[in-house]
Amino acid sequence: MDKFVIEGGHRLEGTVEVSGSKNAALPILAASLLTDKKCVIKGVPPLSDVNTIANILRGLGVSVTRRSNGDIETQVKDESQCRAPYELVSTMRASVCVLGPLLAKRHRAEVSLPGGCVIGIRPIDLHLKGFKSLGATVDIEHGYVTARATRLRGTEMFLGGSFGSTVTGTANVLMAAALAEGRTVIENSACEPEVQDLCEFLLKMGANIKGVGTHRLVIEGAAKLGGAEHKVIPDRIEAGTLMVAAAITQGDVTIEGCRPDHLGAVIDKLSEIGVAVAKEPSRCRVMGPQKLRPTQMTTLPYPGFPTDMQAQLMTLLSLAEGISVVSEKVYPDRFMHVAELNRMGADIRKEGATAIVHGVDRLSGTTVMASDLRASAALVLAGLAAKGTTQLTRVYHVDRGYEKLEKKLESLGARIERQVDKRLVVLGEGPPARGRRAKRRP
Ligand code: EPZ
Repeated sequence: MDKFVIEGGHRLEGTVEVSGSKNAALPILAASLLTDKKCVIKGVPPLSDVNTIANILRGLGVSVTRRSNGDIETQVKDESQCRAPYELVSTMRASVCVLGPLLAKRHRAEVSLPGGCVIGIRPIDLHLKGFKSLGATVDIEHGYVTARATRLRGTEMFLGGSFGSTVTGTANVLMAAALAEGRTVIENSACEPEVQDLCEFLLKMGANIKGVGTHRLVIEGAAKLGGAEHKVIPDRIEAGTLMVAAAITQGDVTIEGCRPDHLGAVIDKLSEIGVAVAKEPSRCRVMGPQKLRPTQMTTLPYPGFPTDMQAQLMTLLSLAEGISVVSEKVYPDRFMHVAELNRMGADIRKEGATAIVHGVDRLSGTTVMASDLRASAALVLAGLAAKGTTQLTRVYHVDRGYEKLEKKLESLGARIERQVDKRLVVLGEGPPARGRRAKRRP
């Protein structure tokens, strides 16, 4: 398992480009199951989660190829398979988003239940409620969900639970409804930019969807959908993470290719903390202050503050002058980063789904362990600001959702090095990165 070695205390400066959104790309790739025509999806980042969905699609008879220019081309070749196996689904929960398209197009879907994960229990009851409302029969047996329907029928449904709307649930039911007979109304649908992007892709395929970007989607089912070409939106969480990297190093960084309009709550919170953010339609300049102010924040579905930025913001607040309160209303157990941040000298106390963050003067580097994607990103940020050297192990979590994070940070002046696990070299995964001495800044 690779690790990052980070020498903290270096100011970030310069310009960095944001990649395409992983969480938009995954359901869009799954939507290619809805047609036998060719689809071309641009801007899909080369991440391990993208490889996982590509492998699931291949197992379902889809040809998935990455062209030399980076575009992904998909085309269904064989519709006989309807099963997404445990071995793949267990490595990435978003694999469940093949359920809706399979059910609508092949009238049967068998997908392993993804199970819990480190950020919480994460049930899929709302997805199944949506499919049942559309007339499918759904059984759970031997750890697999089997959904069947000869023809799905449009209906009205309310898709919400104790924690509000569901992003992947909305995507799943929306894709099923796109080929159902008649009109489907999804009340309390998620309106995250990634769901909007899926709607845009489906519209290009010929679907009829009204209410895009709202909490009420109205879908007139089509008999057939065609191929489409689409560029996924920029990754708002990667952009937000880079913003915090600039802020926590008192840096001055321009993030190119991002959508500040997708980051309203994050930019608002950063400004409250004292970070200067200058917005343009597709770029942001972020300047970190000498002193950070404490704040209160609560994660909520979009357009509220995203849970996927909670760990990163908490890292920043751990260095603010005063006490901050962070409440998690989407995944109440998503606090895996707290213990590791405390090992680096932070002073954070968790009380239920809330963390009380007492700002400290500095963090200090040590060996910490990545536990999930965003917690890992938070520990990288802590390492950038900490005194001394931080070693972050298990960086495969980072690789699931950030394209070349260490390279992007290094281009801005960070001293961060990936150390390749020698055991992988034995298995033929290529030579280890050469021990590179970081350039001293004047
Ligand atoms: C998506 O997960 C994202 N993943 C997550 O990003 C993100 O944290 C989450 O949305 C919330 O924004 C992808 O897009 C691939 P939900 P998803 O269904 O769709 C509860 C990352 O770091 N719920 O919107 O699985 C659920 O337990 C990842 O990139 C039910 O109760 O999340 C949670 O409390 C992690 N029943 C809340 O709803 C259901 O059937 C929101 O979950 C479904 C969800």
